Amino acid sequence: MEGQFRTQRGAPLRIGGLPDTKAGVTHYALEIPKGLSILAYNRPDAEVLGLEAFPASDRPPVPVVHVAFQVMVGCGMAMAAVALWGAVVAWRTRKLPDSKAFLLALTIVSQLGMVAIVAGWTVTEVGRQPCIVKGVMRTAEAVTPVPGLWISLVAYSTLYLLLGVVTATLLGSLFRASPRPGEIVADAAGGGAH
Ligand code: HEM
Repeated sequence: MEGQFRTQRGAPLRIGGLPDTKAGVTHYALEIPKGLSILAYNRPDAEVLGLEAFPASDRPPVPVVHVAFQVMVGCGMAMAAVALWGAVVAWRTRKLPDSKAFLLALTIVSQLGMVAIVAGWTVTEVGRQPCIVKGVMRTAEAVTPVPGLWISLVAYSTLYLLLGVVTATLLGSLFRASPRPGEIVADAAGGGAH
């Protein structure tokens, strides 16, 4: 997850970056000095065992895991930041935030929960490779060759695609049929039908 290749005392915490498996380094990361040692052992000079301490055949695809982890944490931080922004505005103005910038940010981060879930799942599933049960069984040993799997893959993909289109169409028509904010105010004030 952290893209830590070398066994190191005072290992840094990396924000972003792209692990280079061949060279055994993580490029372009913003490094917080000693951050990983503190996070893992509560001691700034603690030794963190790097990936190099394990045979290459026992390591997962490090770039996928690292990037997926960064995406997940990034999404979480973005959602937390917008929530904090909303809370501060609500606390200061005593009303729900309704600025265009806030609503735009909210619309964007509302999508990120799903992105973070898929990224988190990628972290755990790709991160445990090459084992299906750590130290007991490798994924390659667990695969059962079943003929014709592509049929169910295509069938399920088509079904979900159709369900997706139906959901999007229904939600779209619901949104279009819903009243505008001004119309709701008129109703609440006894303005009658719109
Ligand atoms: C904000 C900072 C976050 C941190 C530090 C964090 C940390 C982690 C870690 C360490 C794992 C791996 C656990 C393991 O080894 O089994 C994980 C997995 C996961 N995370 Fe996050 N996460 C964060 C945000 C999020 C958010 C916002 C979501 C979803 C909205 C999310 C969804 C998941 C999911 C679905 C998994 C996989 C769980 C599993 O398969 O067992 N994470 N996360």
